[in-house]
Amino acid sequence: MQEDYEKALSEKIAKKGAKIGVIGLGYVGLPLAVEFAKSGFAVLGFDIDKEKVSKLNDGISYIPDIETADVQKLSKKNLLSATNDFSKLKEQDVIFICVPTPFTKAKAPDISYIISASEQIKANIRKGQLIILQSTTYPGTTEEVVLPMLKETGLKEEEEFLLAFSPERIDPGNKTYTIKNTPKVVGGLSEKSTRLSASLFSYITPNVFQVSSPKAAELCKLLENTFRSVNIALVNELALLCNRMGINVWEVIEAASTKPFGFMPFWPGPGVGGHCIPVDPYYLSWKAREYDFSTKFIELAAETNLLMPRYVVSIITDSLNKQKKTVNGSKILLLGVAFKKDIDDPRNSPSEAIIEMLIDSGADFSYNDPYISSVAVKGRVFESTPLTKESLSSSDCVVIAVDHSAYDIKKIVEHSQLIVDTRGVTRKIISKKVVLL
Ligand SMILES: NC(=O)c1ccc[n+]([C@@H]2O[C@H](COP(=O)([O-])OP(=O)(O)OC[C@H]3O[C@@H](n4cnc5c(N)ncnc54)[C@H](O)[C@@H]3O)[C@@H](O)[C@H]2O)c1
Repeated sequence: MQEDYEKALSEKIAKKGAKIGVIGLGYVGLPLAVEFAKSGFAVLGFDIDKEKVSKLNDGISYIPDIETADVQKLSKKNLLSATNDFSKLKEQDVIFICVPTPFTKAKAPDISYIISASEQIKANIRKGQLIILQSTTYPGTTEEVVLPMLKETGLKEEEEFLLAFSPERIDPGNKTYTIKNTPKVVGGLSEKSTRLSASLFSYITPNVFQVSSPKAAELCKLLENTFRSVNIALVNELALLCNRMGINVWEVIEAASTKPFGFMPFWPGPGVGGHCIPVDPYYLSWKAREYDFSTKFIELAAETNLLMPRYVVSIITDSLNKQKKTVNGSKILLLGVAFKKDIDDPRNSPSEAIIEMLIDSGADFSYNDPYISSVAVKGRVFESTPLTKESLSSSDCVVIAVDHSAYDIKKIVEHSQLIVDTRGVTRKIISKKVVLL
């Protein structure tokens, strides 16, 4: 008689005896591992990055949102450890996949990390395991890519192994919303895996919303991020128009935000960055092509956001020009290379595109970022310059690219000759030195 694996795993989860494996210990995987360990489950993290594995086993956190003290406490209790020995996947009852999903140069999805993680699972799968994909990806990845690979083992889905997709909503640097108070969405191949995943998530999140399929859960995540991309593009376009019309876009958005219903403020900026907003819309438009469907709206938003770094450089050029200076030879100090405030992640940061253009134009470039000590652009490595009265006053132009909380905006304005502010943080300061996006 076929064993009831759902029941067996459900009982293990209820006793917190289920072993949890997390593949990919980055910004998503490590907080997830820590949260399950905190709630009493034994978690084993898997990563190909040996440095991350040894740091975790030494009780050191490398993600700013995770306290080293927490990692130490959990490893002492034997609730959290890491390995690069993937044969230990066999010992896990639940396996999460939290690996990167970037895009290729041609902006097509690169799901090679999901495929290699699935290969590792396939080589070590055993009956009764629940596998949950958490990497952001196009609708269909769980059923069209991961499932066929696991079925090649001869095991039967939803009977001998269970499979679901649950998007990650973590927002690095966000002190208000964390895994603990953000609802989770989950969609399994059948009600069995949806139910089981939901019962597991109930130990770390307040609310689990179950959907009817992995595809619905995959698309839910892309909708959330595309929603941001489209709205940011809208205000970026408005910023360009306001510049021509001589209207302060920041004031307009602030005014519109006083409406208590039907409006939600989004702010313009130097472009979008990170692992999600600039990437995810392309995952959706790529998949849509398979259905002879062109996602014009979504692509227009992505294009609009992509143009912003060039627009910032044009503001820098015009502002220096008004002072009879050229970008070529001017000292330009850029504040912030992370992709958003108060985080240490420079992936796809709009600052990188701005730096490239400034260097190409011959600027004498330097940057400061309290979270990122060096950046490599076009084969050159730049070290973060201390933010001092001298570094500000000796620069022809200071560009506020990221509004890190550590920046003392009043002091920056006081000591700089010219400020190009792409984040609107100087909008309440009356000074001729300030040029707002
Ligand atoms: N960073 C975010 O804010 C965020 C938020 C929501 C969703 N996501 C999504 O979550 C996924 C992971 O993103 P992230 O920011 O944590 O990435 P990350 O680069 O910080 O971490 C991914 C980790 O996976 C490891 N890895 C890669 N291939 C592996 C393999 N085959 N086996 C084991 N480990 C492997 C890497 O070494 C790395 O440590 C992506 O799909 C991303 O879009 C990210």
